[in-house]
Amino acid sequence: METIYNDYAKVYDASGQLAFSLRMIPYLGKLLERHPARGKVLLELACGTGTTAIGLAEAGWRVYGVDGSPQMLAQARAKAEGLNLDVHWSCQDMRRFFLPERVYLATCLYDSMNYMLTSEDLFTVFRQVYRALMPGGLFLFDMNTAYALSTLWNDTTYFTDSPDLSVVMRSIYDERQQRSTVVVTCFQRVNELYRKIVERHTEQAYPPEQIATLLLDAGFRLEASYDCFSFERPKLTTLRIMWVARKPEQDLGAHL
Ligand SMILES: C[S@@+](CC[C@H](N)C(=O)[O-])C[C@H]1O[C@@H](n2cnc3c(N)ncnc32)[C@H](O)[C@@H]1O
Repeated sequence: METIYNDYAKVYDASGQLAFSLRMIPYLGKLLERHPARGKVLLELACGTGTTAIGLAEAGWRVYGVDGSPQMLAQARAKAEGLNLDVHWSCQDMRRFFLPERVYLATCLYDSMNYMLTSEDLFTVFRQVYRALMPGGLFLFDMNTAYALSTLWNDTTYFTDSPDLSVVMRSIYDERQQRSTVVVTCFQRVNELYRKIVERHTEQAYPPEQIATLLLDAGFRLEASYDCFSFERPKLTTLRIMWVARKPEQDLGAHL
């Protein structure tokens, strides 16, 4: 975590990433109509610069926003300042976090779960979320598929340019490991000069069957999986899957 989402945090929203959360908030609303949560306390895991957490707090939720990057959280805190929202930020690793109370809903969005590079780490997060949820609590998260990494993030260069910020994203895909590495290079205008920011991000894809098995092993009931931003079933060309899992009312003893 030390080497990513440092200086990039300051330009994250401006680099175009904000659009995802603005699209996600209304989609979450529709998901919750189909898959209701039983109370209005939620964990936004890997909350980043806090756009979704703030949007949900504005909709009446008490929100715990957890992220491993102090710089991302600094942006989130600055955005929430003065809004008088019931939102509580904390800098914690998603593999080992603690909350002062259990929640009815946990979310983890914008492929944050793909940052778990081993199935052991992914399972650890699922177990952590399971523990953080009330019985009957809902878990919503999206993940990039191997199809997305192998098509969108394979030997590809994206470039965006505006007067104050230029961003180059150069990616390679390791087919054997089903893993993409993206080098993000930003040039941020500071008066008459440009500050260069370079970070290397790696995302791991998992077969949907493996994700489903890990969720079940962690104790969850799988309620649905969708081609993200729709309510269609995922297909072979799905880029991002939204997973909907629920902690049973009675804990029947998950495999630890
Ligand atoms: C692509 S950003 C998404 C941020 C936010 N969810 C959004 O929708 O904009 C990924 C986030 O995951 C966080 N992250 C990555 N690994 C983490 C870890 N091990 N523990 C906590 N946060 C982590 C990063 O700090 C970053 O804020």
